Amino acid sequence: MMCGIVGYIGEKKASPILLESIKKLEYRGYDSVGMSTIDDRIKILKGAGRIDDVHKRINFHSLNGNTGISHTRWATHGGVTDSNAHPQTDCKGKIAVVHNGIIENYLELKEDLIKKGHKFSSETDTEVISHMIEDYINSGKSFREAVLETSRRLQGLFAFLAINEKEKDKIIASKHRCPLVIGIGSNENFAASDVVSFLKHTNKVIFLDDDEIAEITKDSCKVFDITGKQKNKEISQVRWNSEEAQKLGHKHFMIKEILEQKETIDRVASHDRKSIEKIAKMINDAYGVFFVACGTSYHACISAGYIFSKITKKHVNIFLASEFPNFSHFLTKNTLMIAVSQSGETADVLEAVRVAKEKGVKVLALVNVMGSSLMRMSDYSLLLNAGPEICVLATKTFTSQLALIYLLAYTCAGRYEEGKKGLEDVSKKVKDVLSEENIQKIKNLANSLKDEENIYLIGRGLSYSTTLEGALKLKEVSYIHAEGLAGGELKHGTLALIERGTPCIAIVPENESRHDILSNIMEIKSRGGYIIGISNRNEDVFDFSIIIPDVEMHPILMIIPIQLLGYYLALERGCNPDFPRNLAKSVTVK
Ligand code: AGP
Repeated sequence: MMCGIVGYIGEKKASPILLESIKKLEYRGYDSVGMSTIDDRIKILKGAGRIDDVHKRINFHSLNGNTGISHTRWATHGGVTDSNAHPQTDCKGKIAVVHNGIIENYLELKEDLIKKGHKFSSETDTEVISHMIEDYINSGKSFREAVLETSRRLQGLFAFLAINEKEKDKIIASKHRCPLVIGIGSNENFAASDVVSFLKHTNKVIFLDDDEIAEITKDSCKVFDITGKQKNKEISQVRWNSEEAQKLGHKHFMIKEILEQKETIDRVASHDRKSIEKIAKMINDAYGVFFVACGTSYHACISAGYIFSKITKKHVNIFLASEFPNFSHFLTKNTLMIAVSQSGETADVLEAVRVAKEKGVKVLALVNVMGSSLMRMSDYSLLLNAGPEICVLATKTFTSQLALIYLLAYTCAGRYEEGKKGLEDVSKKVKDVLSEENIQKIKNLANSLKDEENIYLIGRGLSYSTTLEGALKLKEVSYIHAEGLAGGELKHGTLALIERGTPCIAIVPENESRHDILSNIMEIKSRGGYIIGISNRNEDVFDFSIIIPDVEMHPILMIIPIQLLGYYLALERGCNPDFPRNLAKSVTVK
């Protein structure tokens, strides 16, 4: 599954700390939740439903003990039921495990365990872990050795925490291709999928690498490799403070993160010049540049195609990460792969990077989460520095990706200063786009569109990728079907869908394609379509216009009104903007 896991061991009662921590990971998956602590023995409470609802039903605070683990689930194996919620245990309920990821060989492992007499109580892949640990302990292994042996046999991707009634003074953690970070406190330690869960307690962290096992007590953290050899790991300081990861008074993370774009673009502009120039040289020297990404990050890569073509006259290749296996034979050792992913945990992207690494290809990551799997797998990485993005929808990280791509393209063309100035110019203009007047206009627009079933977006050139990203925003947060397309494509089919009143958002920057996109708009208008123009100046053909400043790097600004429209449409339609149905923040399953 793709979930959130947390662990606490220290001198305080674990359950309140675990509950507060797991709530901060609810964005990772939220169809069921559970917790286990060790008092005189292991106790478990768990259930299907959102964290607050389950807590109201079963009161996690009733769990005593200073050692515990917790889990919030996004189901992949086994339905959303109380028994499939984590933690999962061994036969006797003396070992509890919470797990994020997918055990690809769980069926054969489960058969083997059943043959040995183990009794299973869930449909999950995870449960094999607790029974394997039990099996190894029964054969004389220590708790840590049992986790090590178990980890060696698991295939797929996983990060799990295990506690054992017989060794109640420790939590054992195991990481393989899913995020797991240890928080180092004073007389207390934490483990989690994401640092935001324990940031209020400590910002000192140890990032585990793949195939590492950690033995965590209240005042120590020993890390071992998969052969059992102890390793030295540095303790890093995470720059984010806990407040950044909270809503700071906003109703939802989504609106908070949209508004943060006033600051986040600037942070990209203030990237260290030397690192930007070093990366730009690598791009210029590469024999073929392959961008790979998914979802919103993929739309940033499509923009990169236009940006590099226009600014550096350089062709770059762009692939959906999930489709990359069809093209990986084009990789040569002089290719540069640029993997774009805000979470740095997207399984499709990690898989494409793994293939590239096997072929000796250098990989650059454009990533937002420090210490993420992608960052640790890549040869080079540039952080988006957008701060934690909790809303499932990517907003500020998208514009930060665009900003970083612009800066790299200008630097590749030997025009770093121009690129930096362009970003500073855009950054100043973001607050104009986010003016009270514009926000009110967009709220009114959302109210008028709230019952629509289809919304179309058209644009040309760089604005084409804006329409793709805009369509994704609208549909994933308001559940209204939305389609983005190149203006020139309308007459090749989609025009058949335009009826009286069909809403169409047109992206109309001040550039060479303005005349052509206006004639595409007329194609819609003459069939009764309702035109919402996003442009630097009004046009008679617009039925509704959102005016935003004219800037060179217009895709960074043009998307913001559509992000806002998505947010207010969600509110109008009673959708939860931070937790859209069926989606999760980082898609760690293929
Ligand atoms: C964006 O709003 C979506 N949540 C989704 O498409 C996302 O962009 C995609 O899953 C890729 O995530 P990543 O950037 O963390 O790799």
